[in-house]
Amino acid sequence: MSVRNSKISANVDTGRRTLIKSAALLPLATPLHSLAQTATRPLPIPPMLDGTNPESGRTKLRLQDGRHDFGTGFKNRTKGINQSYLGPVVRVRKDTPFTVDVANDLNESMACHWHGLHIEGQYDGGPHQEIAPGTVWSPDVPIAQRAGMSWFHSHTHGVTARQVYQGLAGVMLIDDDDSLAADLPNTYGVDDFVIVLQDKLFDTMGQMAYPINADTVEMGFQGDTLVINGVIAPVEQVVPKGLVRLRLLNSCNARFLNLTLSDGLLNVIASDGGFLEKTVQTDSLLMSPGERYEVLVDMRSVSSLSLEASFDEDEISFSGLFNRLLGRKTASAVLTLKAGADKGMDASIPQLLASMEAPDRNTAKVTRSFNLNMEGGNDNQLALAVSWGNVCANPEMGMGINGLPMKMDEINEECILGQTEIWRVNSDADRHPFHIHGCSFRILSQQGVEPPDYAKGWKDMVYAQDGWSEVLIRFDYKATKQYPYMYHCHILEHEDCGMMGQFTVS
Ligand code: C2O
Ligand code: CU
Ligand code: CU
Repeated sequence: MSVRNSKISANVDTGRRTLIKSAALLPLATPLHSLAQTATRPLPIPPMLDGTNPESGRTKLRLQDGRHDFGTGFKNRTKGINQSYLGPVVRVRKDTPFTVDVANDLNESMACHWHGLHIEGQYDGGPHQEIAPGTVWSPDVPIAQRAGMSWFHSHTHGVTARQVYQGLAGVMLIDDDDSLAADLPNTYGVDDFVIVLQDKLFDTMGQMAYPINADTVEMGFQGDTLVINGVIAPVEQVVPKGLVRLRLLNSCNARFLNLTLSDGLLNVIASDGGFLEKTVQTDSLLMSPGERYEVLVDMRSVSSLSLEASFDEDEISFSGLFNRLLGRKTASAVLTLKAGADKGMDASIPQLLASMEAPDRNTAKVTRSFNLNMEGGNDNQLALAVSWGNVCANPEMGMGINGLPMKMDEINEECILGQTEIWRVNSDADRHPFHIHGCSFRILSQQGVEPPDYAKGWKDMVYAQDGWSEVLIRFDYKATKQYPYMYHCHILEHEDCGMMGQFTVS
């Protein structure tokens, strides 16, 4: 068991070498697998931070180094925002500007991108807006969109994947009058929970590893251990007997997650861009990296229910297929909800949630096509090779879009303010989650077919493989050449290796 992670080629924390040496003198640590399977930890509730012009002035976010225990008993060197790992849940409100000071106390630069916000390029926090160590970025971000779940994360050119893996990400909840008045669970940490899902790889010393080699870059980093709000799953939480709301973010670098309930159906009420038109019941919810969904779980007449996750690859692997044929479940519980003594919200699952028109492809004036390439766009790779131990420099590993890798000084598309367009995405290999900055869109087709019902609302993520995925999109905010928007694969290693492009809106 101690050689389980023998393929690890590098640790995130390079200063750990000496620790390994001295650890050789210690008795062997409990292997992580057994730790992860036997111990159930309480669900960590990330602190909530008021982003609506608190009386104290501007909202403060501090990027900092941390020491964090994922539940192995060992401290990891991590990075976090106002804490040792990940960030607080920032709560903002429609029509109230989010005035924020992002202070960088790290010893490296970081760009802090607000993923999902409909804002001008100058506020977007893309790779052109790096915050140097010791400096503060203070945008007054207008919040003009409907309620929903967004998030913020590192978007530093070439090192986004590593920085997010180390912990530089957090959730942002946008409220509006409708969402606050809705007959839905809304008491944070009681019947309303934020769930950040990530996969990690730990060595036998409980240290987070981030191997970078040709495989992890090609597949994107894939860990074997699921972490939920910063601790190793499974976790549990006592909730009132009533409806419970889970606001889910897949913050894995590259893993698609397939979510199910131990019993019954998931009631999906919102996607990336806020409420769906009506609640969608589904037995499984596929989430790509970068996606958000909100679900309701009915705890009125059960004593416990578990949210289960499987890595989507399990479904198509031989063992996954075999298990399915035998009717065996491959998913494992990541979060168990236990009904406590208190009565909770006793309302039925709402049917209608928001009004929404069906997307009409005839309103589009322009169609743009994006082919995601795993090979070919390798001429920007020299710079990245330095930080990536030469992996991107492998000519086979040059990634790009329409044959071109991301170049900081090149604008790939110029869009017209207020114009409706169709963006179509395809890939020459593998499945890629595609993200567009500055707006939300509607999916017309995904991988050549209709998207699942839960993906028919407002989205900023769509995935592509074997057949065009099409979205209907309109840009309502400006992005200049100086601060353009990005579109990219949200497998962060692919993004860092060049599968990204830039566009202006004017
Ligand atoms: Cu979630 Cu361009 O990023
Ligand atoms: Cu984004
Ligand atoms: Cu990709």
